Amino acid sequence: TEQQLLDRFEARIDDGAFVEPKDWMPDHYRRTLVRQISQHAHSEIVGMLPEGNWITRAPTLKRKAILLAKVQDEGGHGLYLYAAAETLGVSRDELIDQLHAGKAKYSSIFNYPTLSWADVGVIGWLVDGAAIMNQVPLCRCSYAPYARAMIRICREESFHQRQGYDALLVMMRDGTPRQRDMVQDAVNRWWWPSLMMFGPPDEASNHSEQSMRWGIKRISNDDLRQKFVDATVQQAKVLGVSLPDPELRWNEAREHFDFGPIDWDEFWRVVGGDGPCNRERLADRAQAWDEGAWVREAALAHAAKSTTQRKA
Ligand code: 3HC
Repeated sequence: TEQQLLDRFEARIDDGAFVEPKDWMPDHYRRTLVRQISQHAHSEIVGMLPEGNWITRAPTLKRKAILLAKVQDEGGHGLYLYAAAETLGVSRDELIDQLHAGKAKYSSIFNYPTLSWADVGVIGWLVDGAAIMNQVPLCRCSYAPYARAMIRICREESFHQRQGYDALLVMMRDGTPRQRDMVQDAVNRWWWPSLMMFGPPDEASNHSEQSMRWGIKRISNDDLRQKFVDATVQQAKVLGVSLPDPELRWNEAREHFDFGPIDWDEFWRVVGGDGPCNRERLADRAQAWDEGAWVREAALAHAAKSTTQRKA
């Protein structure tokens, strides 16, 4: 019966087994993974836009080459993740249509503008730093194709974070006072949205319980957020920037940093489509899709021609 199948499935998950595409899985498990993997893929692709904004204006050829490599990596991460989602029986076109129609979510963080070159370093340090914190546990996600994609992605993410932090160190150590102010201004704008990347508080998270039961989410939103704050406060000290939270202080009893309240109204407003750049991001993606149609058509025509030649 369905219940016996579910019991056996959950027993396998409890034993630390991984689920492959051909294995039996509850519909809810499949739907949860399609939801999460597709949103993750959309995040990678939309995430190329804020950073790509600075490729033509990077201050040196070295920084331009690094940023080009990073943005290209994000595109690749999107492709791995769309491919992982396809193993669950959805088509990539269907997922991309949902994104362009404004029906799909992607990480709220990419709806903020990149106003200066320092934003590129701060995104590498804080946004990729938060992404790594969230993606390392996903390397042990019970759905094997997702976990395998994560292992490859995490290796490249650590380069993304290191290049960002390095760029900021150069600006803070060798930069002019104006460049140092530029870094501090970017930190002030990206700190709270980076904390929101981990999702709503555990008690407001409607998926966490089931996702943790099924080994999709290995660490809760709040625990990962706390881990990120604890690690980042020290890095900010080395960098010589302050974090825009007057309540941030070490709590000896908890052995963690206490931090101030997050503006969840802002979070839900941005998630709901009303952030600073939501409309611009979707318009850019839809335009890129339309302008790239000829490449897809040419690739399909070439594939069809070479198949015919092989058959002849
Ligand atoms: N932005 C947008 N939506 C968010 C969000 C965020 N930061 N955090 C949560 N949400 C949404 C959830 O999708 C869910 O909505 P839905 O039911 O319509 O899908 C709702 O808020 C409730 O949140 P939950 O915590 O209950 O949802 P999840 O269990 O899915 O947890 C998550 C949210 C921790 C983001 C989880 O989905 C996850 O780990 N996703 C995969 C990793 C990911 O997407 N990371 C951020 C992308 S950054 C990136 O990868 C680019 C990097 O290279 C720079």
